Amino acid sequence: MSGTPTELKPAPGAPEPANATVAAAPESGKATVAAATQANYRGGTALRQRFPTIHYLRRGARRRLPGFAFEYADGGAGADLNIEHNWAALDAIDLVPRYGVMPSLPPIDVELFGRSYKGPFGVSPMGGPGIVWPGADRMMAQACQAARVPWVLSTTGGVTIEEAGRLAPDVYWQQLYRLPRNDHAIGLDLARRAAEAGAHALVLTMDVPVRTVRPREVAAGLGSPGFMRRPQAIAQVLTSPGWLRAFMQNGQPRFGNLKPYHEKDGAEMDLVKFARREIGGAYTWDEVARFRDAYRGPLVLKGILHPGDAARAVQLGVDGIWVSNHGGRQLEGLPAAIDALPGVVAAVQAAGAGGRVTVLMDSGVRGGTDVVRALALGAKAAFAGKAFLWALGAIGEDGPRHVIDLLTDETRAALGQLGAHAPAEATAIALHHPGALRLG
Ligand SMILES: Cc1cc2nc3c(=O)[nH]c(=O)nc-3n(C[C@H](O)[C@H](O)[C@H](O)COP(=O)(O)O)c2cc1C
Repeated sequence: MSGTPTELKPAPGAPEPANATVAAAPESGKATVAAATQANYRGGTALRQRFPTIHYLRRGARRRLPGFAFEYADGGAGADLNIEHNWAALDAIDLVPRYGVMPSLPPIDVELFGRSYKGPFGVSPMGGPGIVWPGADRMMAQACQAARVPWVLSTTGGVTIEEAGRLAPDVYWQQLYRLPRNDHAIGLDLARRAAEAGAHALVLTMDVPVRTVRPREVAAGLGSPGFMRRPQAIAQVLTSPGWLRAFMQNGQPRFGNLKPYHEKDGAEMDLVKFARREIGGAYTWDEVARFRDAYRGPLVLKGILHPGDAARAVQLGVDGIWVSNHGGRQLEGLPAAIDALPGVVAAVQAAGAGGRVTVLMDSGVRGGTDVVRALALGAKAAFAGKAFLWALGAIGEDGPRHVIDLLTDETRAALGQLGAHAPAEATAIALHHPGALRLG
């Protein structure tokens, strides 16, 4: 595993949790963790009471969002079985604590690809989060920048690469779908723009060889022509005043990253059709090698589940492998990402790349305990997608910050309970992982 040296003691000046209800170390002499940190995020205790965990945020989003927006955020492939599989597989992992070793809560800073972040978690790339909450990309970017945790902009996100670099200079990563026409001219140019905008990493998504139909989106009418003019959609929007307000303020920007190429193309077709024509399929290994040559910064492959693919990625010189089943949105029969994680970590180590290649994970993360499960199984950081969309739906602009605060406190508390002094120590936690995938 790559990483910073294991910290055996909390670093001096380690960040305090933002939650005033967390007791400070008894020997510190303070009754509670500085109430001043409360002022750092709007909502504070009231938000905690309304939404004490990510589960509450999902319920809140269901109540508050237009139906189509919730269905887009929450739905998966088929009957959502892969989403449930991700959750059940995480829940099934027991972590065994060691006591008598923790005088106070640990720091949770991590280093990823040579940069420091305040927590071993971040926001997964999501295309079209503005459907869920208009302005979502900007709000997630600003929350991550303020909290110094990674934020990954999707190729089809609602802000441009250049805006992303300005909004979140300390935490911005760029995801890239495959745009193969004209010998990858657009994809390679997007990678160049990302590097110029200061992206900390380029993430190639490997796990979308086919365009999946998600039944809940179809049933909600999403993607059908003139959808937003239909009485059903209008009625949903009119009964969701918060969403409508966000829409009036932020509009619904689509595919901004592709606009320059669309205009150059002569704009024969509208931008949505252009995006559909350009984006498609999954990268081949030859194409990965091509991007490896073209992009000098940290290169990450997202959507890896098979140890053999991890070994291949290592051979090609990637810097990171992101274990994911796309949050259950691609195919119901895929393994839970957390169950595939140990095999990928073992493959990276067997290839002698444990110190060079960083393993990341997402799919199903709904709290700090899930983050620690991923760390314990060898990931350097865990990411979340839907949790951030639920928060936007339930709370609006302050939602992403609230998720970050919850994950910060829960990750610290879980490591503290288990007796790990830093994220890097999590791999020493004894655990029971009944679903671990064994191949061959
Ligand atoms: C609405 C939505 C849009 C997504 N769009 C993308 C995308 O554009 N690129 C990508 O690599 N992954 C995309 N994903 C997958 C996420 O990056 C991530 O793998 C997944 O959400 C993690 O699982 P979780 O939602 O259970 O946390 C999307 C996920 C959601 C929920």
